[in-house]
Amino acid sequence: MNREEYIRKPLEALTTPALVVAADALEHNLRLMAEYFASRPCKLRPHFKSHKCVSLAHRQLRAGSAVGITCAKLSEAEVLVAGGVKDVLIANQVVGPAKARRLAQLNRQASVRSAVDSSVNVAELGQAAQEAGVSIGVLAEVDIGMRRCGVQPGADTLALAKLVAETPGLRLGGLQGYEGHLVMIPDLAERRRRTLQAMQLLLAQRRALEEAGLACPIVSGGGTGTYDITGEIEGVDEVQAGSYALMDCHYIRLRPEFQNALSVLSTIISAAGARAVADVGLKGMGNDFGLPVVAGHAEAKVRYVAEEHTVIDGLASAIGRQIRLIPTHGCTTCNLHRQMWIIRNGIVEDVWPIEASGCLE
Ligand SMILES: Cc1ncc(COP(=O)(O)O)c(C=O)c1O
Repeated sequence: MNREEYIRKPLEALTTPALVVAADALEHNLRLMAEYFASRPCKLRPHFKSHKCVSLAHRQLRAGSAVGITCAKLSEAEVLVAGGVKDVLIANQVVGPAKARRLAQLNRQASVRSAVDSSVNVAELGQAAQEAGVSIGVLAEVDIGMRRCGVQPGADTLALAKLVAETPGLRLGGLQGYEGHLVMIPDLAERRRRTLQAMQLLLAQRRALEEAGLACPIVSGGGTGTYDITGEIEGVDEVQAGSYALMDCHYIRLRPEFQNALSVLSTIISAAGARAVADVGLKGMGNDFGLPVVAGHAEAKVRYVAEEHTVIDGLASAIGRQIRLIPTHGCTTCNLHRQMWIIRNGIVEDVWPIEASGCLE
């Protein structure tokens, strides 16, 4: 059967493993986030890396309160622009002359900005922009404590911003600071306290830029764990949350106001007593935050996940029965699949390609 032939069939008709998305839960999540940002100066820039699906990105934009899409990679931005998205922020460094040329070409069709944190990268982006006759918007990335990318706050940030502003072909798009080391702090009060601290560091850079006569159109950061902390801070313009749309069994513990929309439908292919083995493993589920859970079966416990198998204890099951596994990391799970099946009331309602699955460049 081709993909469309499954539409209007019961969920059980799908062959497994299959990435399935509960339509009601997805709609709840999109609505909740859009409503949160509707009355605030800060807006949402949903992160594409969480699902890599253009149909879903368009739904996030249509849900409201969103100014554009965030992504992690140049090749994701190419997929988004080909899919009709006109405002993209690559919240990452696009390094090397070949990629700089591709970024410049993309800016002929849409606004595609990127983050930078080095003079080498500023020079190559500037050169590519000039050669292509375009202007590339660039955000200076500040390390606000995560110790990943970004320059240090203070003189280094100011110097980088000045360099961008003075480089022909580039325009200073503002500042990016991602508090990724804080988004998963279990205690909300502690998460709030430390996020406010980290973001004040970022806002101090905005003030320093403005005092130096540099425009800072956008300050961008934030994730699902901090959307209602970072999103409240005056001077932060965009929150780059992505996981909220589909959620996973790890993030839902921190953010119970959202619902788990994502799971992987799988079939029990072997069973003995209270041990059952499902037909999906590491190649179909992102397990970087731990073991998945079996939806609707609190008594079942995943013992381990192998390449193509998940071994479950406490689940007496018939061979051929289907179960749904909720992975601990939605973002790495979506990257492993080619399509997501949209399910409502147990029926396949639609199928959306995951166009940027495997887009790592
Ligand atoms: C730069 C950046 N912004 C935002 C996010 C937020 O993502 P999430 O919604 O999964 O917390 C991430 C996640 O890794 C990120 O790397």
